[in-house]
Amino acid sequence: MALEIITEARLEHLPAILQIEQECFGVDAFNRRQMRYLIQSQNPFLIAMAEERIAGYMILLKRKKVTVLRLYAIAIHPEFRGKGLASSLVEKAIQIASKSGFSKISLEVRTDNQAAVSLYRQKGFEAAKRLSQYYKDGKDALRMVLNVKDHSNLNV
Ligand SMILES: CC(C)(COP(=O)(O)OP(=O)(O)OC[C@H]1O[C@@H](n2cnc3c(N)ncnc32)[C@H](O)[C@@H]1OP(=O)(O)O)[C@@H](O)C(=O)NCCC(=O)NCCS
Repeated sequence: MALEIITEARLEHLPAILQIEQECFGVDAFNRRQMRYLIQSQNPFLIAMAEERIAGYMILLKRKKVTVLRLYAIAIHPEFRGKGLASSLVEKAIQIASKSGFSKISLEVRTDNQAAVSLYRQKGFEAAKRLSQYYKDGKDALRMVLNVKDHSNLNV
């Protein structure tokens, strides 16, 4: 695969991001207005480019006076899965958290999302809590947390 590049999302990337969002999350997908807001906010919104295309993205949420960085969303276009792109994005999140002084990264993931749970475990996240009926369809979430100082020596 051509060299991947991770860079900040801009409004011109919105159509490609929305297409991936729709592919990945269907009825639960963020709409154009929500995604536009997230791109324009001060939060890190990163895209992964591969073969000169937008292959995936990751959204991180920072809150004032909160030392936990939230990994809000990550998605890779089906054509680009299994190539280590999500892994690179999560490593980038750890790097950002470390540089910005966050002590932890937290996220919620569907308990039945085996690919995502495996990804997060592999990167060092641990299950902290099961959140009953967290999603619209009644499915549970797993809150997973990573201690930044234990994982911030990644060479990214
Ligand atoms: C989950 C997702 C982001 C993984 O993206 P990816 O780029 O294919 O993942 P990577 O290639 O970086 O894989 C990294 C690790 O994740 C795990 N993983 C990825 N896909 C997996 C799968 N289908 N089954 C099991 N584990 C998987 C593995 O541990 C893998 O490491 P390995 O290759 O050494 O086995 C992708 O499948 C996706 O976009 N899914 C739909 C959206 C989604 O569910 N987002 C997460 C919401 S919380």
